[in-house]
Amino acid sequence: MKVTVIGAGNVGSSCAEYIAIKKIASEVVLLDIKDGLAEGKALDLSQTSTTLGFNSRILGVTNDYSLTSDSDVIVITSGIPRKPGMTREELIGINAGIVKSVTNSVLKYSPNAIFVIVSNPMDTMTYLAIKSSGVPENRIIGMGGALDSSRFKTYLSKELNKPASDIDAMVIGGHGDTTMIPLTRLATYNGIPISHFMDIKTLEEVSAATMVGGATLTRLLGTSAWYAPGASVSYLVDSILNDQKKIIPCSVMLNGKYGLNDICIGVPVIIGKNGVEEIIEINLNNIEKNKLQESAAAVKSMNSSLKNLIN
Ligand code: LAC
Repeated sequence: MKVTVIGAGNVGSSCAEYIAIKKIASEVVLLDIKDGLAEGKALDLSQTSTTLGFNSRILGVTNDYSLTSDSDVIVITSGIPRKPGMTREELIGINAGIVKSVTNSVLKYSPNAIFVIVSNPMDTMTYLAIKSSGVPENRIIGMGGALDSSRFKTYLSKELNKPASDIDAMVIGGHGDTTMIPLTRLATYNGIPISHFMDIKTLEEVSAATMVGGATLTRLLGTSAWYAPGASVSYLVDSILNDQKKIIPCSVMLNGKYGLNDICIGVPVIIGKNGVEEIIEINLNNIEKNKLQESAAAVKSMNSSLKNLIN
């Protein structure tokens, strides 16, 4: 199986690293526009194979899309990350043009690939990739909800001082500081509602910390995060390539589910060899429904600035 990662920055290289180390794909191609960057990262990473025990072939290329041909999955991380104090939405001006051109370049060589979109603002970039490429909607997936859910579960486990692997929880809605919706009501600790272990006020605080989870890291690091974003992508790619049919909150095109149309936004999705295998419509209460509608309105208003880029 072959995975191409476009963008050899922090997120792209971390994602390539996890895919190789976890033996998710036999071949990983890292592509960047910056001369030598992808080659250098690929070479460095490949030199960990004997000590870490994996055999994936890792290739780095500068802008040569022909070497990405026949990829099963394409991960798009291109564009600029946010700096402290910026929202993801502020990146749209630069990133939209890049994501559109990269998607079309890579598509020429891998017409049947499944795309995972990471570039921000992620929901809008996923929508743009679908609208500007003509690739069937089941084959373009935005990864934000996987990352936001992993942050939510981690914050819950830290607050409870219980193992992260025993915590289950998800975040739906947009991948933005004010648009994401941690579903506190449905979070569990080994199947038991989290509210059994945590009072409402603490739960609300954990939810608020989750929503600004990316911004907190951007402030600490001076640029946006990469370990958890890279790991979330590898988790998604694993479910696609190994047809695991995991339920992962992802940004996907909605055509009526949750009362929403013509928008990519985070909802629970079964991910397998066909990409989006099924969008699961769970019963939300009225508060959650209202939050999702508000989140969708914000994402749609962001999408409206794409007019010049989609036909
Ligand atoms: C984050 C970026 C990847 O949330 O959106 O860290």
